Amino acid sequence: MKPQKVTKAVFPVAGLGTRFLPATKSVPKEIMTLVDRPLIQYAIDEARAAGITEFIFVTSRGKSALEDYFDRAPELESELNRKGKTELLKVLEDTNMDSGAIAYVRQNRPLGLGHAVWCARRLIGDEPFAVLLPDDVIAAEQSCLAQMVEAYQETGGNMVAAMEVPPEKASSYGMLDIAEDRGSIVRAKGMVEKPKAEDAPSNLAVIGRYILDPKVLHNLHETKLGTGGEIQLTDAIAEEAGWGGTGVYGYRFRGMRYDCGSKAGFLQATVAFGMSRPDLRDEFTAYLNDMMAQLKAAE
Ligand code: UTP
Repeated sequence: MKPQKVTKAVFPVAGLGTRFLPATKSVPKEIMTLVDRPLIQYAIDEARAAGITEFIFVTSRGKSALEDYFDRAPELESELNRKGKTELLKVLEDTNMDSGAIAYVRQNRPLGLGHAVWCARRLIGDEPFAVLLPDDVIAAEQSCLAQMVEAYQETGGNMVAAMEVPPEKASSYGMLDIAEDRGSIVRAKGMVEKPKAEDAPSNLAVIGRYILDPKVLHNLHETKLGTGGEIQLTDAIAEEAGWGGTGVYGYRFRGMRYDCGSKAGFLQATVAFGMSRPDLRDEFTAYLNDMMAQLKAAE
């Protein structure tokens, strides 16, 4: 039997974003700008390209800028209309969400990613759902989630996006314990959250894209506090890898992932996305070349 279609996606955006203080004192991390679009827009576009039609945001205090971002901006629209700026109007329209397509739930304490997803349980109901962490930005020809949705048609169960990392980076990720490697899809027999390099079961790290069975929500309900005192999503997914579980699969996506939750990753993404934009490429690349030449000359 084919797995059920995935139409709902959860965007956990209730974190404190402490790595970007002081900016995140008043600006939500997810609204920070990569070239000219907030991080959240990249995640929304990726989800839309994968066929998602219902968008669930898990927010917290101080995130109202996010809600405003997806609302209409009538003054701006009429001004652009009056001036005949049709291209900009189109850019603006792409950020609007249909009435009722977007829902917000609050996480009233930052108890971790697992808890944030659990907060959306009533809106998710009893069907498979996607989770996208907007601070993982993925540049790919085919949207990463769309690739996963295709692969999920084969596997069902639970699917996580996976990428290879060097051993010294294992302690920053959930790492897959592999039972069977089929190339782009691997079947996992477990997952370990942030292991030391020597304890990592493989070099395949989980990044912020998931397709999950509703059973994971049940596991989250039962789960004890995991690593770091937060309720870990990894633990709740890992429970499904065992005997009698719905199955856990890693998917080696095609594309480049940028960790925009860290300053270095955000800067790398800014350079990469800046260079890939036709309207900026020439000027920006010339500037970077010039900078590199100056650095070399100063060595
Ligand atoms: P991170 O751990 O990267 O985000 O969580 P953070 O806690 O906001 O950032 P730092 O580490 O303090 O800088 C990954 C995603 O999970 C969400 C975050 O908003 C981010 O999108 N999250 C995290 C929640 O929604 N709730 C939480 O309790 C924790």
